Amino acid sequence: MIPTLEWTSEGVRFLDQTRLPLEETYVLATTYQQVADVIVTMVVRGAPAIGVSAAMGLALGAKNSPATTTPALAADFDIMARTLAATRPTAVNLFWAIERMKQRFSALASAPGATPATLRIGLIEEAQRMYDEDIAACRTMGAHGAPLLPKQGGVLTHCNAGALATCGYGTALGVIRSAVEQGSHLHVYADETRPFLQGARLTAWELMHDGIPTTVLCDNMAASLMRQRKIQAVIVGADRIAANGDVANKIGTYNVAILAKEHGIPFYVAAPWSTIDLKTPTGDSIPIEQRPQIEVTHHAGKQLTPNGVGIENPAFDVTPAKYVTAIITERGVLRAPYADSLQEQETAAAI
Ligand code: MRU
Repeated sequence: MIPTLEWTSEGVRFLDQTRLPLEETYVLATTYQQVADVIVTMVVRGAPAIGVSAAMGLALGAKNSPATTTPALAADFDIMARTLAATRPTAVNLFWAIERMKQRFSALASAPGATPATLRIGLIEEAQRMYDEDIAACRTMGAHGAPLLPKQGGVLTHCNAGALATCGYGTALGVIRSAVEQGSHLHVYADETRPFLQGARLTAWELMHDGIPTTVLCDNMAASLMRQRKIQAVIVGADRIAANGDVANKIGTYNVAILAKEHGIPFYVAAPWSTIDLKTPTGDSIPIEQRPQIEVTHHAGKQLTPNGVGIENPAFDVTPAKYVTAIITERGVLRAPYADSLQEQETAAAI
């Protein structure tokens, strides 16, 4: 399996995604601040992977904290949580993971005989549980989503929603993997995904690693390929899904969704329940991260644009729910109206 991130006795080890596909190197974060840094610099990226990384960062910070009392550890933990929460604003999985670790902290702290040592062990176990649950969710999502894909044909994806964006197997790419495992003959078209090139660098690398036929296209080629009937389905991941089913995902996803609708091609979104944010009513309230201009002005250290020109670099966009054919989660496949199907699923899970 692709080792996106893993807890080790020395710290959290990350496959350095900024160096793929040409170099397979690892970064060892030995402090929570270093974990925050690898999230900001996108050594690790992708909503579910960011969430579990933050959980591991909190476990690591608690392990390293010199606190000798529970209140002192709680004070340190609060600072760590604020630092990790300030890394990237769009993927709700980050805030979900931090909240879950905070709740675990409170439960452990109120258990009889609690000490900083029992808290540290419990937090490490919780982060590792989240890692295992993420892989399990991806596999279940794959099983739910695979029947939606054609038995044979082209599937377009945008960005990287694969093993590299999760703890393993992937969301959108997990569905593709599952379909291929069940005997479908799929050809994946990977949008290059300007400006960070998650499609050209990461999706292409990971699918070739698994022997799944893949073609990279520049982002502006999708319409033409759809018109040529090379694409039978689109499947992408998500960074946050609002209560009405609006989907925030990598910039350019909205373009693809409109193109798919125009060409009569189904547009699927695969995401774990930790990506669903029922507290955010619509996509209009989803915070969109603005990334540094240099990601657009330069490539591989070389300047592409004239000095002083205006630059836009929103990392995500919002695809209105009306373009989404189905949302694939580990709890099942949801259909419109999403305001109802998301809420019904949430209520059913709470019973
Ligand atoms: O900026 P990134 O690379 O973190 O953006 C990632 C995406 O947009 C993914 O599609 C999304 O997080 C889903 S990953 C399973």
